[in-house]
Amino acid sequence: MDTTNEVKVQEEYIVKLKEINEGKKLKYNILTMGCQLNENDSEKLCGMLEKMGYTRTDDVKNSDIALFNTCCVRENAEDKLFGKLGELKRLKEEKGLIVAIGGCMMQEKHITDKIKESYPFVDILFGTHTLHRFPEDLYRAIEEKRKIEDVIDVDGEIYEGLPIKRDSKIKASVTIMNGCNNFCTYCIVPYVRGRERSRNPRSIIEEVKHLSEFGYKEITLLGQNVNSYLRVEKEKNNPFEEYEGVNSFATLLRAINKIDGIERIRFVSPHPKDFTDDVIDAISDCEKVCKLIHLPLQSGNTKVLKEMNRKYSKEQYLELVDKMKKEIPNLTLSTDIIVGFPGETDEEFEDTLDVARKVKFEQVYMFIYSRRVGTPGDRMPNQVPEEIKHKRFDRLKELVESQIEANNQKYVGTVQKVLVEGESKNNPNMLTGRTDSNKVVIFEGNKNLIGKIVSLKIVSEHMWYLKGEIDG
Ligand code: SAH
Ligand code: SF4
Ligand code: F3S
Repeated sequence: MDTTNEVKVQEEYIVKLKEINEGKKLKYNILTMGCQLNENDSEKLCGMLEKMGYTRTDDVKNSDIALFNTCCVRENAEDKLFGKLGELKRLKEEKGLIVAIGGCMMQEKHITDKIKESYPFVDILFGTHTLHRFPEDLYRAIEEKRKIEDVIDVDGEIYEGLPIKRDSKIKASVTIMNGCNNFCTYCIVPYVRGRERSRNPRSIIEEVKHLSEFGYKEITLLGQNVNSYLRVEKEKNNPFEEYEGVNSFATLLRAINKIDGIERIRFVSPHPKDFTDDVIDAISDCEKVCKLIHLPLQSGNTKVLKEMNRKYSKEQYLELVDKMKKEIPNLTLSTDIIVGFPGETDEEFEDTLDVARKVKFEQVYMFIYSRRVGTPGDRMPNQVPEEIKHKRFDRLKELVESQIEANNQKYVGTVQKVLVEGESKNNPNMLTGRTDSNKVVIFEGNKNLIGKIVSLKIVSEHMWYLKGEIDG
């Protein structure tokens, strides 16, 4: 399919809408749920809307378009959307604003059916494979005054050159691949994002070069399984153009490391099963690649991991961590953990605590297992009762918080390189930034430091942030 032509078609809809909107001072409100990939998609939606002449407002009551970019990885995301839609009904009746819902949840038929039945005032439904067509969908909803449902179940192409309006001027996310082929048995993502497919190296490198020209300092590479970048293309013999030596994730890291102006490189999420030695070597060699690596564990028990289809054992995970710690000086690790996967026993959960104790993660994102319609996990007969899941969650939380406190102590008295991001939200007299290990540090300093990396002496620690002073 000719994606360039399709992007041109959408640009024409953007121009048409801009003409229609001329002088009307229209506003949009966007609510993004979900992961960084969704946030990056939202930046593209914002880019399109701003080109159509809309400006952003944080107050939905003032908006002419209410846009939701949804997530369905856990149940609470659904509850949140339906709550918000309930609140919107009156506003829609009073003001006639356009209501549009996109993203992962729209790829689930039982959800779009429910919306059409219970919230018939919604104007546009669009999925993950049709995001690029938002200008056309919006144009039709406005001009033809009809309801639009633009959801397809075919893996979307990768559309390059869509407008984008980024949230930050310092840190930028760059999606390097779409979809996922891993089918972890708890997870809905492969069903709503389709099969794994990588962007070509040239587009990624050019995007990062552009970002550096605009003054961006930190790049986060995004994908559901970043360390299998280009793997599917190689397996299927799908031709891709090697560009600046990039033909794998490791070579991508090396190429981006060479781009002047970029000072930090992060990536989420790699999969432990694909953490090959070339990636470890690249992290170790590339001075700009942050030494905080997110390494999703999910469970510390080999049997549960097998049931989850994670393709590594407790021992393999720990061996990988040991190897990485040996090869990469100053390595710190963060992780994702799910408690209460079907069939998980108390003893099996102990293994998760055991791994957490051994690895001493810098940060742990903890989740209570949530049944997802259509996944193998949902069909497993031995679901864990809610109260047991919550008890396990509380135990894990207690362990993790005590580890974070102990770990924070280690920072006090050290000097850390901090990328200054802006004024602190809670205290505008202070600046805020992050260490290489992604810890928030607040400190007093001149605003001209924003966007720079400064050396800060850490003077005190607080659960979720550190306090620093300019060193020297
Ligand atoms: N591709 C990434 C992240 C996917 S979603 C990875 O493999 O690491 C982010 C996290 O949500 C997952 O790592 C997992 O910990 C959690 N998650 C996914 N499905 C879930 C479910 N059904 N219930 C609870 N947590 C879930
Ligand atoms: Fe979901 Fe597993 Fe794919 Fe991550 S790797 S998106 S957890 S199926
Ligand atoms: Fe959610 Fe979709 Fe991301 S389901 S976690 S927004 S890929």
